[in-house]
Amino acid sequence: MRKIALSIIGLGLITGCTVADELEQRNAESAAVAMEFMKALKGELQAAMQEGGPVNAIQVCNMRAPEIAAGFSEKKGWTVARTSLKYRNPDNAPDAWERKVLEQFEERKAKGEDPKQLSYAEVVEADGTKTYRFMKAIPTAAVCLTCHGEKIDSSVEARIQELYPEDQARGYNEGDIRGAFTITQPM
Ligand code: HEC
Repeated sequence: MRKIALSIIGLGLITGCTVADELEQRNAESAAVAMEFMKALKGELQAAMQEGGPVNAIQVCNMRAPEIAAGFSEKKGWTVARTSLKYRNPDNAPDAWERKVLEQFEERKAKGEDPKQLSYAEVVEADGTKTYRFMKAIPTAAVCLTCHGEKIDSSVEARIQELYPEDQARGYNEGDIRGAFTITQPM
């Protein structure tokens, strides 16, 4: 009897550990992809700005960001994207879960957490299917202000207006949370 009880406890511990390990691994992999995404985007953005100025660089965000996201999604079998409470592209609008997390990021930042370190993960169950969801905040850097700041050059503004007539992604300051990477993994 005692032996059985012990082995049940043992089994519980083992499965408990495996689940924790699995989540930790999913978390680490998601964080790595978010970082790679950021690096790729920043690199292309800076190169395009240097080469042809900010109007030219708009296409990096417009065309390349969704392409890079799709590349990661395909490679990993996940959904990788960007979202924001004040989005430029309506395709990037947050769903209910993402909105809740973005609002929580704002609260955590207001309480003094560093936006660079803000991330959140949760196993979400919907219609009987479990998915692992991960978000990592994207802080606003100086280079972002050209297209997301308070004062935007008129030629840049005109092009943005043309592509995104309902743009909300302006008026940011350095250090603000511009948005977040959002990753969904099937389980
Ligand atoms: C050259 C102009 C430009 C610069 C500089 C720029 N962005 Fe953007 N950003 C855009 C455009 C255009 C979009 C819309 C992309 C799309 O259609 O998905 C966008 C979209 C985004 C989104 C997705 C959410 C949304 O608003 O649709 C995030 C997050 C974002 N930018 C963060 C940043 C950050 C962080 C920086 C600085 C490292 C930055 N951007 C610099 C033009 C720019």
